[in-house]
Amino acid sequence: MYNFEYKNPVKIIFGKDSIPKVADEIPQHSKILMIYGGGSIKSNGVYQQVKDALQGFELHEFGGIEPNPHYETCMKAIEMVKYEKVDFLLSVGGGSVLDATKFIAAGALYGGQDPWDFMKHRYEIEVQEALPIGAVLTLPATGSEMNGTTVITRVSTQEKMAFGSPLVMPQFSILDPKCVFSLPDRQVANGFADAFVHVIEQYLTFPVNSPLQDRFAEGILLTLIEEGPKVLANRNDYDAAANFMWSATMALNGLIGAGVPQDWATHMIGHELTAFHGIDHARTLAIVLPGMMHIRRDSKKEKLLQYGERIWNIKQGSDDQRIDQAIQKTVEFFNSLGIPCTLPEYDVPKETIGKITERFKTRDSKLGENKDISYKEVETILEDRL
Ligand code: NZQ
Ligand code: ZN
Repeated sequence: MYNFEYKNPVKIIFGKDSIPKVADEIPQHSKILMIYGGGSIKSNGVYQQVKDALQGFELHEFGGIEPNPHYETCMKAIEMVKYEKVDFLLSVGGGSVLDATKFIAAGALYGGQDPWDFMKHRYEIEVQEALPIGAVLTLPATGSEMNGTTVITRVSTQEKMAFGSPLVMPQFSILDPKCVFSLPDRQVANGFADAFVHVIEQYLTFPVNSPLQDRFAEGILLTLIEEGPKVLANRNDYDAAANFMWSATMALNGLIGAGVPQDWATHMIGHELTAFHGIDHARTLAIVLPGMMHIRRDSKKEKLLQYGERIWNIKQGSDDQRIDQAIQKTVEFFNSLGIPCTLPEYDVPKETIGKITERFKTRDSKLGENKDISYKEVETILEDRL
């Protein structure tokens, strides 16, 4: 196992009807900006629950954060934060709203010209300060509720980029699994697929003798596989919703990734598919991952065989046959959620592969757990998905 440091200060408040507890978590006399998306919280009653709980606070609102949140919209919110002298940000929504809130929290206090610097120069410019954040999470998927990552899209340049800082980790996140009840099938499927691939990015690399992390990861994968059909079949199954929500949080709160190599190349390539074609984040991962497993079958061999055996019970055949079966099972899992896994099924033309490859070439990126995936491998992986 590698050396590591691990600290996760996010207070999780989990359970049925826990949203009113938000009032206990925000310091008295705070000037709050409640940030939300396109209106789902108004139709499912979450908005009203938060408003009722926060009577007595100075509460401002900023709605209209898009899925794959836009830099341009965040900049408008930053203006509002400065104008109203807000000192606490409350995200009420899914991963997009929370990611936007993180960007706003850091951007509002940034001394430089443009907070996009955090994305563009992510290895040179660090966040120095950020407004405090709280979250009411309405969609299990990203793990954003318990991590310090944010992913923002700049519409004008068709770029989707990330930065991370412990300063934008929420002080608390409220997870009421009843929020799952109002999710459409598409978002449930996305949530399961995104969480699944988060685990894979931290698990399907090479062995470093970390059996505990491996079994945590496998436990999350198996739970997602079991609970997915239950949530899709019955949206009001509270227990399945709760298991879904906690699995998604655990998939990306740093625990399973501590002390082990991490990949994230599937995510980096997937972000480009969203940037160019607006495809839902989780679906881009379902497209790229089978290609990644196929093309990286040698460097990932031992973990691919372990994954096949422990997750899909594949024990027969040569190594190559077992790896092929593991890839096939992964595709079938995504398909069972209603998620297609090839580029033509999303009407992505072949020319997009060239555009994405060019971006990685310009950035001189080296992706993956071995930092050996260059633009050439990116091209091969995407061609595998045609
Ligand atoms: O905008 P509203 O009206 O709220 O509707 C949303 C949105 O249309 C709706 N929704 C959310 N909760 C709902 C609901 N509808 C009914 N009932 C509810 N309870 O669902 C739609 C999608 O929401 P969004 O927040 O975009 O989804 P998700 O949570 O999957 O977030 C995706 C974003 O997170 C980023 C992705 O790249 C993408 O931009 N990621 C963030 C990560 C992180 N911070 O660690 C890691 C991930 O890998 C990912 O990259
Ligand atoms: Zn993801």
